[in-house]
Amino acid sequence: MFDKPTLVRQDATPERRTHSLLRHPVFALMGLRPILGQHTDAEDAALREWATGRSRLVEIGVAEGASAVTLRGAMSPEGSLWLIDPFHLSRVQRLNAMKRLAHRAVNAINNGRVVWINKFSFEAVKAWVDQIDFLFLDGDHSETEVQRDWDDWHQYVIPGGVVAFHDAAIFQGGWPQPNWGPVRVVDRLFRSRTLSGWRIVHEVDSLVVVQRS
Ligand SMILES: C[S@@+](CC[C@H](N)C(=O)[O-])C[C@H]1O[C@@H](n2cnc3c(N)ncnc32)[C@H](O)[C@@H]1O
Repeated sequence: MFDKPTLVRQDATPERRTHSLLRHPVFALMGLRPILGQHTDAEDAALREWATGRSRLVEIGVAEGASAVTLRGAMSPEGSLWLIDPFHLSRVQRLNAMKRLAHRAVNAINNGRVVWINKFSFEAVKAWVDQIDFLFLDGDHSETEVQRDWDDWHQYVIPGGVVAFHDAAIFQGGWPQPNWGPVRVVDRLFRSRTLSGWRIVHEVDSLVVVQRS
């Protein structure tokens, strides 16, 4: 019935309002709404643009899989996409509607290879050895944890590779606040000073993309 995620950060059309009222993932499992993405159309387009043709992509924070669907659709057919999320927020772990939704949505895209890592990012990194050319940080949004994700993961990003931070910029009519974790970390790393070897290459709505030179 539905083939496109609803991006709840967009202006509220009647259809989007209805989908937001049915927020619990179980409604999507029942087919009453599509999966909900937590980013805007413009952010979605930027994710697609930077993921296009990439071959070693990592997403931290998958939720219902809306951004993962975009990344899988855009990546190289020979590439791999690692999806890291413990899906710990479900009260009924045996049902775990969010995890099921994410798997269903991402598995419906026929492109590249997907590896699911059902762990927190700080656990997953302990066994990590691979190079990365696209990293999306959208997991725990506390300042400490965004900084920890950066510290743990950015070393694996190859020259020319990118890291995208979500909810990391304040924009007109937008939702992020100056004290939000991703905003503070991006300000500290890339705005108050220039971190050697990295620069901001794209900003749209709350999304900030930095590239390794
Ligand atoms: C904002 S949502 C992700 C939204 C998704 N990227 C999208 O655009 O549709 C945050 C997700 O991060 C997950 N999460 C929280 N802490 C995490 C961590 N340390 N590592 C990986 N995932 C985490 C939560 O379970 C939740 O599903």
